[in-house]
Amino acid sequence: MTSETTGTHGAVLEGGAPGGDRPIVELRGAGKAYGNIRALHGVDLAVRPGRVTCVLGDNGAGKSTLIKIVSGLHQHTEGEFLVDGEPVRFTTPREALDRGIATVYQDLATVPLMPVWRNFFLGRELTRGPWPVRRLDIARMKRTADAQLRDMGIVLDDLEQPIGTLSGGQRQCVAIARAVHFGARVLILDEPTAALGVKQSGVVLKYIAAARERGLGVIFITHNPHHAYMVGDHFSVLRLGTLELSAARSEVTLETLTNHMAGGAELAALKHELAQVGGVDVDELPEERELSAAPEPAVADPAASEPVEGKS
Ligand SMILES: Nc1ncnc2c1ncn2[C@@H]1O[C@H](COP(=O)(O)OP(=O)(O)OP(=O)(O)O)[C@@H](O)[C@H]1O
Ligand SMILES: [Mg+2]
Repeated sequence: MTSETTGTHGAVLEGGAPGGDRPIVELRGAGKAYGNIRALHGVDLAVRPGRVTCVLGDNGAGKSTLIKIVSGLHQHTEGEFLVDGEPVRFTTPREALDRGIATVYQDLATVPLMPVWRNFFLGRELTRGPWPVRRLDIARMKRTADAQLRDMGIVLDDLEQPIGTLSGGQRQCVAIARAVHFGARVLILDEPTAALGVKQSGVVLKYIAAARERGLGVIFITHNPHHAYMVGDHFSVLRLGTLELSAARSEVTLETLTNHMAGGAELAALKHELAQVGGVDVDELPEERELSAAPEPAVADPAASEPVEGKS
């Protein structure tokens, strides 16, 4: 969890340095209405270099709307959106990308049958030779993709394999490495672990941490408070389009975060609904507090573990 990072580009980002902790991207009282539907309202958010800002919230809370504003797909209809302290209003994702804001969407814009290296350079192919006889510089693309992936600690057996044959987690990692390579300063990840199992999620979380160590500001969208808490420096919980919680890591515990995500009131309502279905013994269900509390880390109970150790 260091805020001091030496990136590959030689940039040294120091938390205490003047301007070093200045937000790259900032929302101030930002909101968005789709016609008369107010999807987002009064949201403050700051993305700093070398920090992971987690955006949590239930379905329809406004997470995608928020990142669509930052990534240039939609425009905010209230408040301010600043990049490097300067108010902006992007009209295309290209403009956001030009300011170093890269988005990795959940469905990943990859071509499954094309090799990994080709997808790495998709839309930004390297070429060689003068104009009339210009062709793809395949050797350089392979070399560069290989070096960049290794540099991020991603080891793939064969970059010739179609990207569609990689696991979901590996594909997310290639997308992260790609964004880093093309000079992203802010990386937006829309639910990158949502469709993944425990092990694959762990791999993706590792590269989120690696991007942070490179000095990138990361916006990590997730439903999962456990995943958020593993890598997050700041937590913003959205509910019905407004910020319900915005807190630095030092100000929240995993339990508080989990409680915000699985609100006691909703769980009580769910229990009530289940009671009407029949076949569910609601008295056997844990209380709301137990349901929403985070599972304790596996700490060995000294009383229980002693006899076991004695046996071995
Ligand atoms: N293009 C649109 N037109 C009208 N309403 C929209 C549009 N996009 C989103 N909304 C509404 O805005 C609200 C927030 O949606 P959003 O997609 O931002 O939520 P989300 O937090 O990303 O949810 P999920 O977890 O399901 O992806 C919802 O009520 C949704 O119906
Ligand atoms: Mg969404």
